[in-house]
Amino acid sequence: MRGLSLDQAPPLSVVLPFFVAGALSAAAAGGLLAADGSAALTMPLAPTTLGATHLITIGLLMLVMMGALYPMIPVVLGVPVPWIRLSHGVFVMVGAGVGLLVAGLTNSRADLVAAAMVGLGLGVACFLPPAAWAAFRSPAKTPTAWGIRFALLSLAAVVLLGLLMARGHAGSVFPGDRWLFVRVHVALGVLGWIGSLIVAVSWQVVPMFYLAKEVPGWQRYSVLGALVLGVGLPPLGLLLAPWLGSALTEAAVTYGASPALFALFVAHPWVTLKSIRDRRRKRAHPSVLFFRCGLATAPLVGGAAILASISDEPRWDLLYGFLALVGWAAMIVHGMLSRIVPFLVWFHRFSPLAGLQPIPSMNALLPARWTRVGLGLHAGAVGLGAVGILTGHDFAMRGAGALLAGTGLSLAAMIVHVALQRPASPAANLDLGS
Ligand code: HEM
Repeated sequence: MRGLSLDQAPPLSVVLPFFVAGALSAAAAGGLLAADGSAALTMPLAPTTLGATHLITIGLLMLVMMGALYPMIPVVLGVPVPWIRLSHGVFVMVGAGVGLLVAGLTNSRADLVAAAMVGLGLGVACFLPPAAWAAFRSPAKTPTAWGIRFALLSLAAVVLLGLLMARGHAGSVFPGDRWLFVRVHVALGVLGWIGSLIVAVSWQVVPMFYLAKEVPGWQRYSVLGALVLGVGLPPLGLLLAPWLGSALTEAAVTYGASPALFALFVAHPWVTLKSIRDRRRKRAHPSVLFFRCGLATAPLVGGAAILASISDEPRWDLLYGFLALVGWAAMIVHGMLSRIVPFLVWFHRFSPLAGLQPIPSMNALLPARWTRVGLGLHAGAVGLGAVGILTGHDFAMRGAGALLAGTGLSLAAMIVHVALQRPASPAANLDLGS
């Protein structure tokens, strides 16, 4: 692939712990839903809802995305992330932080939320400066490079806002109008941080992994431009609130995100599904089905987001959050992991031996049926969860939780299975830097 410099990628010991912990967080979120049933997803901002939400947003998505950025930034942007040993500290602090945050929010314990703020704040403070230094120092001017940089800026903003709001749960005061802050936090987190990264990375990996046609440059820049506009307007509205007055502020926060919603849930899936359909290799790896399912869910996410902004009915907010996080983002991330983990393990452990001894193909490291089982569990969790939210049916919600727990466990097992594979001959088990 054009412009990739794989030799700068960090060792597997930096990346894989983030992926395994991410998968286990998804299993924990499933466990929480299975235990609480429909009570877990009846009202936004209820204690269990907040706990389950952050097990997915921070536990699964943020850990996996942080772990993936360590190799992605040097490989795609050509500049290694400095002080790479700090990544182990980041892993421990963010991992402990999310555990404490979930325990604190779910049980309304101010002391645990306060401790979580320290862990998460320090963890992100150790991750962002080196990652941003490498990303902004790189001369790359591709839409993928700009998307990664914008995602990092959004991460800084969503965490800052999250910490400010967490003070309200840690015995201090809430920073202002709760709904306005939550909406801006969600726009920065779901659309800015998760959305920009998914979009930017898809432009790199979809053509590389599936020999799909590259999305034309003007379409990539249009999606990115709409994304930046829609993610920027809600926080701008909040910042200018003292001058705008309440009606204008509410409009900026609620409707300002529309360009980003259109970019993520209509334009990006449209052009990406088209590029996958027109791919050169017709028999694609089964992980492409994750992309197809995740991208096909996107218009439903957009529909739920519109209903959430025009109706007072809480189930639309919950459906929007659930479909966006578990149906769209987690589905695409799950698919990427099914391809990226075998790729990284093969690259670090086996590719240096090419020509010296027989080595397995990348696909041989992960049998296709593992990916299909993961997909079945994940799709089942999304479908049943949506039914549970719409009908309030307790059994459906518990079933969705059990399937989500199964999804997380099967993903963790898949990562460990691939990570345990090493070249057969003793001579090949030399330290290959992994
Ligand atoms: C250090 C990181 C974070 C902290 C400390 C944090 C904290 C919080 C807090 C305290 C709330 C509740 C606000 C209230 O009670 O009114 C909240 C809500 C929320 N956060 Fe975060 N957050 C963080 C990261 C994220 C990220 C990265 C995302 C998304 C990608 C996210 C998505 C959400 C969502 C969707 C809600 C609303 C949940 C609901 O409707 O029940 N958060 N966050």
